[in-house]
Amino acid sequence: MTVFPHLFNPITIGPMTAKNRLLMPAMSINFGVDQQGFVTEQLIDYFLARARGGAGMLLVGGGAVHPTGVELPDLPKLWNDACIPSLTRMVDAVRPYDACFGVQLMHGGRQSYHDQKVAPSAIPAPAVVKGVPKALELVEIDELVAAFGDAARRCRAAGFDFIEIHAAHGYLINQFMARNSNKREDHYGGSFDNRIRFLMELLADIKAKAGRDYPVGIRINGNDFIKDGWTLDDTLRLAPLLETAGADYLHVSAGVYGSTELTIPSVYAPQGCFVHLAEAVKQVVSLPVVAVGRIKHADMADRIIAEGRADAVAMGRALLADPELPNKARANGAAIRPCIGCCLGCIHAVLQLEPGGCVVNPDVGREYLLKDEDSADASRVVLVVGGGPAGLAAARMGAVRGHRVILIEEGNTLGGLFRLATRAPGRQEAGDILAYFEAELARLQVDIRYQTLLTAGLLDDIAPDIAVLATGSLPDTPIIKGFSGTKMAISSVVEVMGGELPEGDQVIVLGGGQSALMLADFLAEAGKTVVVLNRGRHFGEEMSSNDRFYLRERLNRNKVQLYKNVVVEAFLPRGVRFRAGEKTDVLEDMDALVISEGMTAIRPDRRLFKDRVTAVHLIGDAKEPRNLMLAIAEGEELGRSL
Ligand SMILES: Cc1cc2nc3c(=O)[nH]c(=O)nc-3n(C[C@H](O)[C@H](O)[C@H](O)COP(=O)(O)O)c2cc1C
Ligand code: SF4
Repeated sequence: MTVFPHLFNPITIGPMTAKNRLLMPAMSINFGVDQQGFVTEQLIDYFLARARGGAGMLLVGGGAVHPTGVELPDLPKLWNDACIPSLTRMVDAVRPYDACFGVQLMHGGRQSYHDQKVAPSAIPAPAVVKGVPKALELVEIDELVAAFGDAARRCRAAGFDFIEIHAAHGYLINQFMARNSNKREDHYGGSFDNRIRFLMELLADIKAKAGRDYPVGIRINGNDFIKDGWTLDDTLRLAPLLETAGADYLHVSAGVYGSTELTIPSVYAPQGCFVHLAEAVKQVVSLPVVAVGRIKHADMADRIIAEGRADAVAMGRALLADPELPNKARANGAAIRPCIGCCLGCIHAVLQLEPGGCVVNPDVGREYLLKDEDSADASRVVLVVGGGPAGLAAARMGAVRGHRVILIEEGNTLGGLFRLATRAPGRQEAGDILAYFEAELARLQVDIRYQTLLTAGLLDDIAPDIAVLATGSLPDTPIIKGFSGTKMAISSVVEVMGGELPEGDQVIVLGGGQSALMLADFLAEAGKTVVVLNRGRHFGEEMSSNDRFYLRERLNRNKVQLYKNVVVEAFLPRGVRFRAGEKTDVLEDMDALVISEGMTAIRPDRRLFKDRVTAVHLIGDAKEPRNLMLAIAEGEELGRSL
């Protein structure tokens, strides 16, 4: 019986046939090009891993057609023929894996990270990127139309199977299409036909230069989700015109910088959040339509196709998290490393102009360095102390390397403090990464011992060669006047998220990081009135801006009061006196205070290991309290070195 028969059914797109309907969409990953913008080994091996993983179609992201349109610094540059040889090297490397390989052609317009920005009109982007773009002159528009056609010709010459035009997400083409960014009074502005003219002209130029038989997909927004932006009605009007003009597929996405629905939604958005837009487009065209937006599981992807809502499905971050997802889904069994929708390692990093990565998969961008992984020279006994993310990652990788791994955990579940974080409203899905590690440890026959303390006797009993200390951290207690004398019930984020809800309705949360905000949300959902006092300058600084966006909305809806730059002058018997900026405030009649500020590492006494093990390693929060990404990366890295 074929597993997921609709997803793993071939699809014909114009003259091209893909072996399955799973597309890795364009993701501007911001690494893997040299100074000239030619692709390097790093990008080649990143794609190789994903082609090997079984995706039917793959798109290179952010291929810049013109110097004015480079969105991020480290993306492939396609504006002269010198780019062709390095692209061909990448195509040749991927070819043996039988994936259709394409490039997305884009121009960032006003959403580009440089000072020579151009746009239809001199209107800055509503968010994220600063700076007023220069309004394009007619002759410059002609030049850009030709740049798209020339780039497409180069992609064909390099051997790519297809291209996709990026007409979505608020980039240049979308800027021409949307009223809020296009105030031109010539034949590129005003009416619908004028606003789509740029897209229609460049599509014609691509067809003329790359050949009518070269497959061209178009990514459009089903909705910009912003005032005076491109709407679904516009999309339904445009889609048949694109079909007539020779488009071979339509890929329906959504959102622009500053929109109310984010293009790259975090865990708070429903899975499959933009599928309804693709479904609507599918009603008005007969060419293949691709759906996207938090589609993480093969069964959802299969269902979307089975129900006729789309012809193919794009899975972006799911393939960052696990390039082997398609093969594993087909084989029906192996645990898939799940994207947890944090947006931190991928889009947040990229928009900070750093190389893209993934919180749960430290191998992203390092595939070229990890080619020749072998088993360890000799199998050793490795004792991992602590079952939080760092310990789990180290245990898994140690076992992959062929060691006999024993993991001891004080409690009766795995996941450490991270498991508590998955109890916050809307964040249960983050726990999928723990389920992945649990499945992997079972597969690799790691010996997990719950409710087991580290003692000399245990060490003598196990006689490990190597000890890995992943003992985590605990919340700090602040030293503030009145703290010890207050009559408010005091607890920590760990206690509350662990199930000990404070009594009373009026609760102060002290802290301003991600855990304090999630705690405030948790308390508000439980019916408490919550005030957050943040002694720092920003809220949720360690979160991705995408994830924070949704959490802030939730807190607003739940009427959580947020104060930052707070100086707590004193805790009172039933409240607190504090300054926020110039103003002094007093909160009275408060019932409880929950602390969620810093964390302190927990480290066992090293003397215990003397003469008992050959090496002791400290990882994760036990080394220094940090985030999930570093915990997993550090655990895996150590496991690899054993
Ligand atoms: C790091 C990153 C870079 C992206 N760059 C692009 C891009 O260059 N072009 C594009 O059309 N979409 C881009 N996207 C959006 C994705 O193609 C996709 O639409 C989005 O991630 C939602 O799909 P997913 O939930 O399957 O990840 C990017 C997404 C990420 C995470
Ligand atoms: S960084 Fe987070 S959102 Fe991005 S791919 Fe990895 S798990 Fe998913």
